[in-house]
Amino acid sequence: MESVLILGASGGIGQALVKELNLRGKTVTSLSRSTDQFDITNENSIRDAIDRLVGPFDTIIVATGALAIGSNKPEKAIKSLDPIVVAEQFALNATGPALVLKHALQHMPHDRKSVFAALSARVGSIGENRLGGWYSYRASKAALNQLIHTASIEVAKGGRTKPLSRQWRSVATDTPSITVDVDVLKKTQAEAARACK
Ligand SMILES: NC(=O)c1ccc[n+]([C@@H]2O[C@H](COP(=O)([O-])OP(=O)(O)OC[C@H]3O[C@@H](n4cnc5c(N)ncnc54)[C@H](OP(=O)(O)O)[C@@H]3O)[C@@H](O)[C@H]2O)c1
Repeated sequence: MESVLILGASGGIGQALVKELNLRGKTVTSLSRSTDQFDITNENSIRDAIDRLVGPFDTIIVATGALAIGSNKPEKAIKSLDPIVVAEQFALNATGPALVLKHALQHMPHDRKSVFAALSARVGSIGENRLGGWYSYRASKAALNQLIHTASIEVAKGGRTKPLSRQWRSVATDTPSITVDVDVLKKTQAEAARACK
């Protein structure tokens, strides 16, 4: 049976993924900050949490992240840019998911196809940025895309794992009845299969 690991399982999209994947008969393992003290901005926490898991996982999805951290609202103007906020955004949205990949590769099977996906955001695309604003969130998601793309080149050369960063259109995750179209996973796996050929 296909085994899936969801990090950030307490979030709106994470919860919906867990629910839908369970309905589809997958074996789902969940990890989150609020229930497991898993802090994706701290490498020791990432290593400890991942080392405790029992794999292998055919699919790993990082569903953590935030547009605004604490009371810091997304910046509308360059004059609002605060280096501490930029660093926090990068730690949460870019470095964290890449460190998860670093430590989780040990749990990805070597004898069959597998997928690592981190939720990015459409606003991380430079080509599609016509509105401006949200400096540090946009930049952190652009950095995430580059980190995961670079890893996909390295990892896919030596094995059967295809790392991807998935972009999402807006979803109202503050409503408890959110459902996520997990068919995106099928597309992800199809991409992975093509890349692993
Ligand atoms: N919702 C959208 O419309 C949308 C659009 C584009 C992209 N995305 C991206 O999709 C991802 C999930 O979004 P969402 O709407 O589901 O967000 P959400 O409901 O706010 O959930 C955020 C998740 O991130 C976790 N998290 C935050 N800081 C963390 C930390 N330091 N260490 C570990 N976990 C941490 C939270 O954990 P706890 O709750 O356990 O603290 C929670 O599980 C994010 O990367 C977001 O940027 C969302």
